[in-house]
Amino acid sequence: MNKNTKAKPFIKWVGGKGQLIDQLEAMLPTDFDQWENITYIEPFVGGGAMLFHLLQTHKNIKSAVINDINADLTNCYTIVKEQPNTLIESLQQIQTEYYSLKTEDARKDFFLQMRNKFNTKSLDAIHNTTLFFFLNRTCFNGLYRVNKSGQFNVPFGRYKSPTICDPETIFTDSQLLQNVEIMTGDYQQTLCQATKNTFFYFDPPYRPLSSTSDFNDYAKEAFNDLAQKQLKDFCDEVSAAGHKFLLSNSDCNDRFFDELYSQYRIERVWAARSINSNPEKRGKLTEILVRNYEIAKH
Ligand SMILES: C[S@@+](CC[C@H](N)C(=O)[O-])C[C@H]1O[C@@H](n2cnc3c(N)ncnc32)[C@H](O)[C@@H]1O
Repeated sequence: MNKNTKAKPFIKWVGGKGQLIDQLEAMLPTDFDQWENITYIEPFVGGGAMLFHLLQTHKNIKSAVINDINADLTNCYTIVKEQPNTLIESLQQIQTEYYSLKTEDARKDFFLQMRNKFNTKSLDAIHNTTLFFFLNRTCFNGLYRVNKSGQFNVPFGRYKSPTICDPETIFTDSQLLQNVEIMTGDYQQTLCQATKNTFFYFDPPYRPLSSTSDFNDYAKEAFNDLAQKQLKDFCDEVSAAGHKFLLSNSDCNDRFFDELYSQYRIERVWAARSINSNPEKRGKLTEILVRNYEIAKH
């Protein structure tokens, strides 16, 4: 294995924080590197860009807990952590089969067959994860979207030769995940995992900027305004228990979050978001970062 390979998200995920990492890093508690034996908790892990970044750059993080409500996704983390070799073999097999199909129609048929198979929800963990990776690499824009009955329904993506199997990333991520506990379910279940020096990073489904504009169908349960308010109550609990948290969300014109989080520090950062399928509407937007601690400005 190449020692220089950096651990990074092994899947493409809407809302991925890859582009915001430097700004999130700058927003960590000033004395973060002096904390001892940190427990890092990420209750809405998604693609895990912040997780992989922090675990590689802050060696005083001794353990981490990640959680997501999407069981297919957390199953991927468990397989990458525990069975990287078997997963790589299985991904290589499906990649070979896919590349052997020479026409776009044949590839599209194969994609639809695999999507149906995935939606039967009857596969063992390795096969489910294999198809999750495959669909993520071959579907339109690498989106993950389900309909009301929880069926994955993203259309075919027409990529020439997508990388379905990336062994280096899987091995590197696998090593990094050895000290990570993986949980599946509602974010609230993570609080009892907190220890003395715990840092939470919340990256919940963003509140849509308008009723039609945004995407947040990660799961069949919607994350509506009531859910955003409940998350704020949860942040209060985290804070009252003495833990530090950082939270990101969209910057809505109606000042919804300014009011909701008025007792905390709120800052705006520029973020490139490109989930809008209409390129005209893609562009730079501000996002908000909320935290319950002061930081020294340089
Ligand atoms: C914005 S994404 C996270 C993006 C991620 N941090 C990244 O960098 O790729 C939000 C995640 O929250 C998950 N989610 C939605 N509702 C949830 C809930 N009630 N509890 C836990 N996770 C939830 C979704 O499945 C999705 O993966």
